[in-house]
Amino acid sequence: MSRFADRIALVTGAASGIGLATARGLADGGATVFLADRDVEALKAARESLAGAPHEAIPLDVTDEQGWVALAERIRARFGKLDILVNNAGFGKFAAITDTTLDQWRSIIAVNLDSVFLGTKHMMPLLAASGCGAIVNMSSIRGIVAGANTGSYSAAKGGVRMFTKVTALECAAAGNGVRANSVHPGHIATPLTAPAYADPEIAKALLADVPLGRIGQADEVADAILFLASDESRYMTGAELVIDGGTTAQ
Ligand code: NAI
Repeated sequence: MSRFADRIALVTGAASGIGLATARGLADGGATVFLADRDVEALKAARESLAGAPHEAIPLDVTDEQGWVALAERIRARFGKLDILVNNAGFGKFAAITDTTLDQWRSIIAVNLDSVFLGTKHMMPLLAASGCGAIVNMSSIRGIVAGANTGSYSAAKGGVRMFTKVTALECAAAGNGVRANSVHPGHIATPLTAPAYADPEIAKALLADVPLGRIGQADEVADAILFLASDESRYMTGAELVIDGGTTAQ
Protein backbone atom coordinates (compact mmCIF):
# COMPACT_ATOMS: atom_id res chain seq x y z
CA MET A 1 0.00 0.00 0.00
CA SER A 2 2.82 2.41 0.84
CA ARG A 3 4.71 2.41 -2.48
CA PHE A 4 2.69 5.35 -3.81
CA ALA A 5 1.13 6.63 -0.57
CA ASP A 6 0.36 10.38 -0.72
CA ARG A 7 1.31 10.44 -4.41
CA ILE A 8 -0.86 12.19 -6.99
CA ALA A 9 -0.64 10.51 -10.39
CA LEU A 10 -1.95 11.25 -13.87
CA VAL A 11 -2.16 8.58 -16.56
CA THR A 12 -3.22 9.38 -20.12
CA GLY A 13 -4.91 6.75 -22.25
CA ALA A 14 -5.98 5.30 -18.90
CA ALA A 15 -9.28 3.80 -20.04
CA SER A 16 -7.76 0.76 -21.74
CA GLY A 17 -4.82 -1.61 -22.08
CA ILE A 18 -1.46 -0.56 -20.63
CA GLY A 19 -2.79 2.75 -19.29
CA LEU A 20 -5.58 1.06 -17.34
CA ALA A 21 -3.19 -1.57 -15.93
CA THR A 22 -0.86 1.26 -14.85
CA ALA A 23 -3.67 3.25 -13.23
CA ARG A 24 -4.71 0.13 -11.31
CA GLY A 25 -1.15 -0.49 -10.14
CA LEU A 26 -0.77 3.10 -8.95
CA ALA A 27 -4.10 2.93 -7.12
CA ASP A 28 -3.15 -0.41 -5.53
CA GLY A 29 0.04 1.27 -4.29
CA GLY A 30 -1.97 4.00 -2.56
CA ALA A 31 -1.82 6.84 -5.12
CA THR A 32 -4.67 9.17 -5.97
CA VAL A 33 -5.00 8.67 -9.72
CA PHE A 34 -6.32 10.95 -12.44
CA LEU A 35 -7.37 8.81 -15.39
CA ALA A 36 -7.41 10.84 -18.61
CA ASP A 37 -8.76 9.53 -21.89
CA ARG A 38 -10.77 10.79 -24.84
CA ASP A 39 -13.05 7.71 -24.77
CA VAL A 40 -15.71 8.74 -22.27
CA GLU A 41 -17.58 5.41 -22.31
CA ALA A 42 -14.41 3.41 -21.70
CA LEU A 43 -13.50 5.83 -18.90
CA LYS A 44 -16.75 4.96 -17.12
CA ALA A 45 -15.89 1.25 -17.22
CA ALA A 46 -12.34 2.01 -16.07
CA ARG A 47 -13.70 3.90 -13.07
CA GLU A 48 -15.64 0.84 -11.99
CA SER A 49 -12.49 -1.25 -12.03
CA LEU A 50 -10.87 1.26 -9.65
CA ALA A 51 -13.85 1.36 -7.31
CA GLY A 52 -12.73 1.94 -3.73
CA ALA A 53 -9.47 3.70 -4.68
CA PRO A 54 -9.25 7.52 -4.78
CA HIS A 55 -9.36 8.53 -8.42
CA GLU A 56 -10.88 10.95 -10.92
CA ALA A 57 -11.81 10.25 -14.53
CA ILE A 58 -11.08 13.16 -16.87
CA PRO A 59 -12.23 13.33 -20.49
CA LEU A 60 -9.15 14.65 -22.32
CA ASP A 61 -7.94 14.59 -25.89
CA VAL A 62 -4.17 14.66 -25.35
CA THR A 63 -3.66 16.68 -28.54
CA ASP A 64 -5.75 19.56 -27.15
CA GLU A 65 -3.52 22.13 -25.44
CA GLN A 66 -6.41 23.92 -23.72
CA GLY A 67 -7.52 20.60 -22.24
CA TRP A 68 -4.06 20.18 -20.69
CA VAL A 69 -4.11 23.74 -19.33
CA ALA A 70 -7.52 23.16 -17.73
CA LEU A 71 -6.44 19.82 -16.23
CA ALA A 72 -3.26 21.33 -14.77
CA GLU A 73 -5.35 24.05 -13.14
CA ARG A 74 -7.75 21.45 -11.73
CA ILE A 75 -4.93 19.40 -10.19
CA ARG A 76 -3.22 22.57 -8.88
CA ALA A 77 -6.40 23.78 -7.22
CA ARG A 78 -7.02 20.39 -5.57
CA PHE A 79 -3.57 19.16 -4.65
CA GLY A 80 -1.02 21.86 -5.54
CA LYS A 81 1.33 19.23 -6.98
CA LEU A 82 1.61 16.23 -9.26
CA ASP A 83 4.03 13.41 -8.37
CA ILE A 84 3.67 11.07 -11.35
CA LEU A 85 2.85 11.77 -15.01
CA VAL A 86 2.47 8.77 -17.33
CA ASN A 87 2.20 9.99 -20.93
CA ASN A 88 0.76 6.76 -22.31
CA ALA A 89 -2.01 7.64 -24.80
CA GLY A 90 -1.24 6.72 -28.37
CA PHE A 91 -1.98 4.53 -31.33
CA GLY A 92 -0.49 3.42 -34.61
CA LYS A 93 -1.65 3.10 -38.21
CA PHE A 94 0.69 1.27 -40.49
CA ALA A 95 1.30 1.99 -44.17
CA ALA A 96 4.14 2.55 -46.59
CA ILE A 97 5.49 6.10 -46.66
CA THR A 98 4.26 6.53 -50.24
CA ASP A 99 0.74 5.49 -49.18
CA THR A 100 0.60 7.82 -46.16
CA THR A 101 -1.17 11.15 -46.48
CA LEU A 102 0.08 14.25 -44.67
CA ASP A 103 -3.08 14.26 -42.55
CA GLN A 104 -2.46 10.66 -41.47
CA TRP A 105 1.17 11.48 -40.65
CA ARG A 106 0.13 14.50 -38.61
CA SER A 107 -2.53 12.63 -36.65
CA ILE A 108 -0.05 9.93 -35.56
CA ILE A 109 2.59 12.51 -34.62
CA ALA A 110 -0.03 14.54 -32.74
CA VAL A 111 -1.40 11.72 -30.59
CA ASN A 112 1.92 10.01 -29.84
CA LEU A 113 4.40 12.92 -29.72
CA ASP A 114 2.69 16.32 -29.49
CA SER A 115 0.81 14.91 -26.49
CA VAL A 116 4.04 14.17 -24.63
CA PHE A 117 5.30 17.70 -25.27
CA LEU A 118 2.01 19.24 -24.10
CA GLY A 119 1.75 17.07 -20.98
CA THR A 120 5.36 17.70 -20.02
CA LYS A 121 5.12 21.45 -20.59
CA HIS A 122 1.89 22.06 -18.73
CA MET A 123 2.40 19.62 -15.86
CA MET A 124 6.02 20.60 -15.16
CA PRO A 125 5.27 23.30 -12.54
CA LEU A 126 3.14 20.78 -10.62
CA LEU A 127 5.76 18.04 -10.97
CA ALA A 128 8.44 20.42 -9.71
CA ALA A 129 6.21 21.26 -6.74
CA SER A 130 6.26 17.55 -5.83
CA GLY A 131 9.96 17.49 -5.03
CA CYS A 132 10.18 13.94 -6.38
CA GLY A 133 8.28 14.18 -9.68
CA ALA A 134 8.49 11.29 -12.13
CA ILE A 135 7.55 11.35 -15.81
CA VAL A 136 7.20 8.06 -17.68
CA ASN A 137 6.74 8.42 -21.43
CA MET A 138 5.36 5.67 -23.65
CA SER A 139 7.59 4.93 -26.60
CA SER A 140 7.88 1.51 -28.26
CA ILE A 141 10.50 -0.83 -29.66
CA ARG A 142 9.65 1.19 -32.79
CA GLY A 143 11.34 4.12 -31.07
CA ILE A 144 14.57 2.08 -31.14
CA VAL A 145 14.45 -0.21 -34.17
CA ALA A 146 12.62 0.48 -37.42
CA GLY A 147 10.12 -1.67 -39.27
CA ALA A 148 8.80 -1.20 -42.78
CA ASN A 149 5.39 0.49 -42.97
CA THR A 150 5.75 2.14 -39.56
CA GLY A 151 7.02 5.54 -40.76
CA SER A 152 4.83 7.94 -38.82
CA TYR A 153 4.57 5.71 -35.73
CA SER A 154 8.35 5.07 -35.58
CA ALA A 155 9.06 8.77 -36.12
CA ALA A 156 6.69 9.66 -33.28
CA LYS A 157 8.00 7.01 -30.87
CA GLY A 158 11.62 7.80 -31.71
CA GLY A 159 10.75 11.42 -31.00
CA VAL A 160 9.32 10.42 -27.62
CA ARG A 161 12.57 8.62 -26.79
CA MET A 162 14.76 11.65 -27.48
CA PHE A 163 12.31 14.16 -26.03
CA THR A 164 12.41 12.17 -22.78
CA LYS A 165 16.19 12.50 -22.58
CA VAL A 166 15.98 16.26 -23.20
CA THR A 167 13.34 16.51 -20.47
CA ALA A 168 15.62 14.61 -18.08
CA LEU A 169 18.55 16.93 -18.80
CA GLU A 170 16.52 20.12 -18.46
CA CYS A 171 15.05 18.95 -15.15
CA ALA A 172 18.46 17.92 -13.83
CA ALA A 173 19.89 21.31 -14.81
CA ALA A 174 16.96 23.07 -13.14
CA GLY A 175 17.44 20.95 -10.01
CA ASN A 176 13.68 20.57 -9.72
CA GLY A 177 13.78 16.92 -8.62
CA VAL A 178 11.87 15.67 -11.66
CA ARG A 179 13.06 12.50 -13.41
CA ALA A 180 11.96 11.46 -16.92
CA ASN A 181 12.31 8.00 -18.47
CA SER A 182 10.78 6.16 -21.41
CA VAL A 183 9.37 2.65 -21.81
CA HIS A 184 9.62 0.59 -24.98
CA PRO A 185 7.17 -2.31 -25.17
CA GLY A 186 7.32 -4.91 -27.90
CA HIS A 187 4.29 -7.01 -28.87
CA ILE A 188 1.71 -6.61 -26.10
CA ALA A 189 -1.87 -7.95 -26.03
CA THR A 190 -4.28 -5.01 -25.57
CA PRO A 191 -7.48 -3.80 -27.24
CA LEU A 192 -5.20 -1.83 -29.62
CA THR A 193 -3.48 -4.94 -30.93
CA ALA A 194 -6.24 -7.53 -30.48
CA PRO A 195 -7.57 -7.25 -34.07
CA ALA A 196 -4.12 -7.87 -35.55
CA TYR A 197 -3.30 -10.73 -33.18
CA ALA A 198 -6.61 -12.40 -34.03
CA ASP A 199 -5.21 -13.02 -37.51
CA PRO A 200 -3.30 -16.35 -37.24
CA GLU A 201 -0.77 -15.33 -39.90
CA ILE A 202 0.07 -12.07 -38.13
CA ALA A 203 0.18 -13.77 -34.73
CA LYS A 204 2.58 -16.40 -36.07
CA ALA A 205 4.87 -13.79 -37.60
CA LEU A 206 4.91 -11.73 -34.40
CA LEU A 207 5.64 -14.74 -32.19
CA ALA A 208 8.57 -15.66 -34.40
CA ASP A 209 9.95 -12.23 -33.48
CA VAL A 210 9.83 -12.86 -29.69
CA PRO A 211 12.59 -15.02 -28.11
CA LEU A 212 10.49 -15.63 -24.99
CA GLY A 213 7.90 -17.22 -27.30
CA ARG A 214 4.80 -15.38 -26.19
CA ILE A 215 3.03 -12.05 -26.53
CA GLY A 216 3.40 -9.73 -23.52
CA GLN A 217 0.57 -8.63 -21.24
CA ALA A 218 -0.46 -5.08 -20.29
CA ASP A 219 0.43 -5.60 -16.62
CA GLU A 220 3.96 -6.65 -17.60
CA VAL A 221 4.46 -3.21 -19.15
CA ALA A 222 2.65 -1.53 -16.26
CA ASP A 223 5.12 -3.13 -13.82
CA ALA A 224 8.01 -1.41 -15.63
CA ILE A 225 6.13 1.91 -15.62
CA LEU A 226 5.40 1.57 -11.90
CA PHE A 227 9.09 0.95 -11.22
CA LEU A 228 10.06 4.12 -13.12
CA ALA A 229 7.30 6.06 -11.34
CA SER A 230 8.47 4.90 -7.91
CA ASP A 231 11.41 5.85 -5.68
CA GLU A 232 12.97 2.48 -6.52
CA SER A 233 14.28 4.12 -9.72
CA ARG A 234 15.42 7.31 -7.96
CA TYR A 235 18.86 7.27 -9.67
CA MET A 236 17.37 6.75 -13.15
CA THR A 237 16.64 9.64 -15.47
CA GLY A 238 16.89 9.93 -19.26
CA ALA A 239 16.89 6.14 -19.42
CA GLU A 240 14.92 3.73 -21.59
CA LEU A 241 13.42 0.49 -20.39
CA VAL A 242 12.65 -2.19 -22.99
CA ILE A 243 9.86 -4.69 -22.26
CA ASP A 244 9.81 -6.92 -25.34
CA GLY A 245 10.50 -10.56 -24.47
CA GLY A 246 13.92 -10.21 -26.10
CA THR A 247 12.80 -8.94 -29.52
CA THR A 248 15.35 -6.14 -29.80
CA ALA A 249 18.16 -8.25 -28.35
CA GLN A 250 18.38 -10.11 -31.68
P1 NAI B 1 -5.21 0.84 -26.06
O1 NAI B 1 -5.88 1.20 -27.34
O2 NAI B 1 -5.67 -0.36 -25.33
O3 NAI B 1 -5.23 2.08 -25.07
C1 NAI B 1 -4.90 3.38 -25.52
C2 NAI B 1 -5.82 4.38 -24.88
O4 NAI B 1 -5.42 5.67 -25.35
C3 NAI B 1 -7.30 4.20 -25.29
O5 NAI B 1 -8.12 4.18 -24.13
C4 NAI B 1 -7.59 5.42 -26.16
O6 NAI B 1 -8.93 5.89 -26.03
C5 NAI B 1 -6.59 6.42 -25.62
N1 NAI B 1 -6.29 7.47 -26.57
C6 NAI B 1 -5.97 7.36 -27.88
N2 NAI B 1 -5.86 8.55 -28.44
C7 NAI B 1 -6.11 9.47 -27.46
C8 NAI B 1 -6.16 10.88 -27.43
N3 NAI B 1 -5.94 11.63 -28.53
N4 NAI B 1 -6.45 11.50 -26.25
C9 NAI B 1 -6.68 10.76 -25.15
N5 NAI B 1 -6.68 9.42 -25.13
C10 NAI B 1 -6.39 8.78 -26.29
O7 NAI B 1 -3.65 0.71 -26.44
P2 NAI B 1 -2.37 0.15 -25.65
O8 NAI B 1 -1.87 -1.02 -26.41
O9 NAI B 1 -2.65 0.04 -24.21
O10 NAI B 1 -1.35 1.34 -25.95
C11 NAI B 1 -0.95 2.28 -24.98
C12 NAI B 1 0.34 2.91 -25.46
O11 NAI B 1 1.34 1.90 -25.59
C13 NAI B 1 0.26 3.60 -26.83
O12 NAI B 1 1.00 4.79 -26.79
C14 NAI B 1 0.91 2.60 -27.76
O13 NAI B 1 1.46 3.21 -28.91
C15 NAI B 1 1.98 2.02 -26.85
N6 NAI B 1 2.49 0.73 -27.26
C16 NAI B 1 1.67 -0.37 -27.34
C17 NAI B 1 2.18 -1.59 -27.74
C18 NAI B 1 1.31 -2.81 -27.87
O14 NAI B 1 1.78 -3.81 -28.44
N7 NAI B 1 0.07 -2.80 -27.38
C19 NAI B 1 3.60 -1.74 -28.05
C20 NAI B 1 4.38 -0.54 -27.89
C21 NAI B 1 3.84 0.64 -27.51
